[in-house]
Amino acid sequence: MHSADDIKKMVGTYAAQFVEQNAVIGLGTGSTVYWLLQALGTRIQQGLRFTAVPTSTQTHTIGTALGIQFRELNEVDELSVTIDGADEADPQLQLIKGGGGALLQEKMVAAASKKLIIIADHTKVVAQLGKFPLPVEVIPFGWKQVQKHIAQLGCEKIVLRVKNNDTYITDNHNYILDCWFDAIGDAAALNAALHNIPGVVETGLFINMAKEVIAGYPDGRIVTIGG
Ligand code: 5RP
Repeated sequence: MHSADDIKKMVGTYAAQFVEQNAVIGLGTGSTVYWLLQALGTRIQQGLRFTAVPTSTQTHTIGTALGIQFRELNEVDELSVTIDGADEADPQLQLIKGGGGALLQEKMVAAASKKLIIIADHTKVVAQLGKFPLPVEVIPFGWKQVQKHIAQLGCEKIVLRVKNNDTYITDNHNYILDCWFDAIGDAAALNAALHNIPGVVETGLFINMAKEVIAGYPDGRIVTIGG
């Protein structure tokens, strides 16, 4: 049986094969993507050349140390593929993302990509989205008003994200509200409703974006959903 970290390493390493010579790609954020970056570092030593747009300062820092050449999103036109993690993925490949706080840049980079591949351990594959608290990025100004509006959408618990005893600040200098919806019936409608609230910058709902989810299991299986 593989541990949770072994599974992340297995799928992260597996996904490195999807980066082609001279490709321009997007690189996601998180502990599963960490292993993808490590595997890409090894492939660079073996001669692979590619350019990547990072979705966070975390990925930029880890990747730079491994020899990955980064560009800003404004410096590229289209990305052939983005490989990223997720917090939940349902059978329609709708996602909750943003557990690592990088949802805004992750969504922008995914939207610039021909293909979004998600790498995850089996616990992220769910029948219905919503058990994982949905991250919503908001501007700091008046965030309590935004919290009130989100509650009116039927959300029972909304918590301002804190890290190391301080309010968590995203790479784009915003706050994150983690929203416990429990069960999200219509993810597209919820995403639209959240975007209608003044002060919401982005939501962690990724609708019709992922083309495939590569999930790793404790028995060593790697299962691809979609594709
Ligand atoms: C960061 C994300 C991550 O991809 C998501 O939280 C999954 O991370 P991990 O692979 O560490 O479980 O959306 O904003």
